Amino acid sequence: MDATAASLQALTLTSTERLSQFPDCYPDLNVMDSYREHIAQNLSKVSGIDAELIYTRLAWTSTLDKGDLSLPVPALRQKTKPAELVKELAEKFPESDLVLPPTVFGTHLQFFCKPGPLNQTVLSRILSQKASYGTNGNQGLKDPADPSKGRKRIIIEFSSPNIAKAFHAGHLRSTIIGGFLANLYTVLGWDVIKMNYLGDWGKQYGVLAMGFAKYGSEDALAQNPIGHLFDVYVKINKLITEQADHIKSQQQLIADLTNKGEDTSNIKAELDEYVAASEDEKARRYFKSMEDGDPSAVALWRRFRDLSIIKYKETYARLNIDFDVYSGESQVKSESMNAAHKALKEAGVVEESEGATIVDFKKHGDKNLGTAVIVRKDGTPLYLTRDIGAIVERDEEYHFDRMIYVVASQQELHLKQLFKLTKLMGREDLASRCKHIQFGMVHGMSTRKGTVKFLDDILRDVGDKMHDVMRANEAKYAQVPNPEQVSDILGITSVMVQDQTGKRGNGYEFNLNAMTSFEGDTGPYLQYAHARLCSMGRKSGLDLTKLGEADFSLLTEPHALNLIRLLAQWSDVLVNTAKTEEPVTILSYLFKMTHMLSSSYDVLKVVGSEPDVALARMALYYSARQVLHNGMRLLGLNPVERM
Ligand code: ARG
Repeated sequence: MDATAASLQALTLTSTERLSQFPDCYPDLNVMDSYREHIAQNLSKVSGIDAELIYTRLAWTSTLDKGDLSLPVPALRQKTKPAELVKELAEKFPESDLVLPPTVFGTHLQFFCKPGPLNQTVLSRILSQKASYGTNGNQGLKDPADPSKGRKRIIIEFSSPNIAKAFHAGHLRSTIIGGFLANLYTVLGWDVIKMNYLGDWGKQYGVLAMGFAKYGSEDALAQNPIGHLFDVYVKINKLITEQADHIKSQQQLIADLTNKGEDTSNIKAELDEYVAASEDEKARRYFKSMEDGDPSAVALWRRFRDLSIIKYKETYARLNIDFDVYSGESQVKSESMNAAHKALKEAGVVEESEGATIVDFKKHGDKNLGTAVIVRKDGTPLYLTRDIGAIVERDEEYHFDRMIYVVASQQELHLKQLFKLTKLMGREDLASRCKHIQFGMVHGMSTRKGTVKFLDDILRDVGDKMHDVMRANEAKYAQVPNPEQVSDILGITSVMVQDQTGKRGNGYEFNLNAMTSFEGDTGPYLQYAHARLCSMGRKSGLDLTKLGEADFSLLTEPHALNLIRLLAQWSDVLVNTAKTEEPVTILSYLFKMTHMLSSSYDVLKVVGSEPDVALARMALYYSARQVLHNGMRLLGLNPVERM
């Protein structure tokens, strides 16, 4: 099993040796930065255009036929017409060791790297830097020129399931996307705090306690806390619904009898007694006692919470995720909520409405945000109130530079209201450091045995399905040393890759067959590509520790050169991903690479080639394997070596 995100941090490279004259330019860490620097300086010399301007406009290309770097001349905003200027620049660009004479494409100036030096730089860096290749820890420094000033801190709040309730697709997506963002910011050198904000407070804990008293079992709780609490919760809710039905029908009866002028005082008294003894009412009273700090009520709730967290931790570990903080609705202090309430009052933002405290956003320049209740009629806080308290607490405790909430799009209004209230409280600065990263819905997530309740069920089910798919190929299956473990990892990969394939904002159909297929851009295909490169290394008969000594100038075929050009982009892909905050930015790159690889195998053979050519090609394949590995790790996947 691969090391987890904790070790990703150790892999992050920083460089203060040679700081560039240009902003965000790290030639030692990003191969393409050294080319940008070279082009900007040379082009500036001959044209008189500001070098930094050229530097910042040199863009990476989406396809290799557009060059390795491209300069959109209109973006330079010069007096000369772009169509003329682009030609002039192409003619004037001096002879260079690193790049070919630039080509004109419309008003773009396209630069292609010369193979010799690029081969050498890219492959030797990958082979020596290995898992850290492409990382750039300088991005997260407060001041890249002075690392002693420390790193920027980011809180990523994600997953956040509700104890005793189902772990639904929204939680799954939040877990996958949040885990990925945590890895991304880690390799960019940020100080990352992974926070799980559990739904662990509210009347439902009163309900749960009543359920446990009736249906609970200590043994079952110890064995499978999440499952047992869920069962108990379902049972007690069924009883509550039945009782509510009875109450309704009695009320109807009373109304009917009253209409007929009959005396209903006996039935009424009976009903009052029934209501007072009903599970729902008992739950309400119980939760009230929790709020009042009753020691035995709080102790039971704490046990439910602690046991659930132990179980969550095991499951998250299978996804390479480990939270720094298990926070939750229960952890928000009343003082923080009261202080926030007071600040809103003083700012003249809140008003009373039928005994409750509300905010009418219309009156504060945001008619789309509707109105929100801040304090209920009975004085109790709400989901939103707790979030307002929490945002301030987190700021005080962690002094973060940024905070990201990874939550489904359905809660967009909630988070907009939260950020707006934070501003209205006079904390514009705090609100501006926070962001909602949202995602669309998953449709039809169900196991073969019924609807999904827990993360464990989903993972077990895709693992089983994957095992079936693998068994279908008997000959290959026989060669897999530990099929149980491999199918488990491939199953997890399937779910995650399917989730990361589209843009976050789009929803998708949960499709067990499609995601576990080896055909198309799927998780198993990605794993296969990695395992194939590993197997190639094992079968080559070459000493893989000597790859760095290969003569990379022997790699001259277009397939080889294009692959190297693609590998050179990896650092830029990370920088770009930091802008999009989309896993698909990385995934598309990895699939582009695996497609290129699979069309190369027949052209660039290792076995059967001259020894020095074989060694150079193996170095290329192993470099590709390394970058594929680094990308998969970032996405939260465990690359397998055999399958
Ligand atoms: N527990 C919530 C739910 O399942 C998600 C929490 C989102 N985070 C927040 N700070 N409100 O819907």
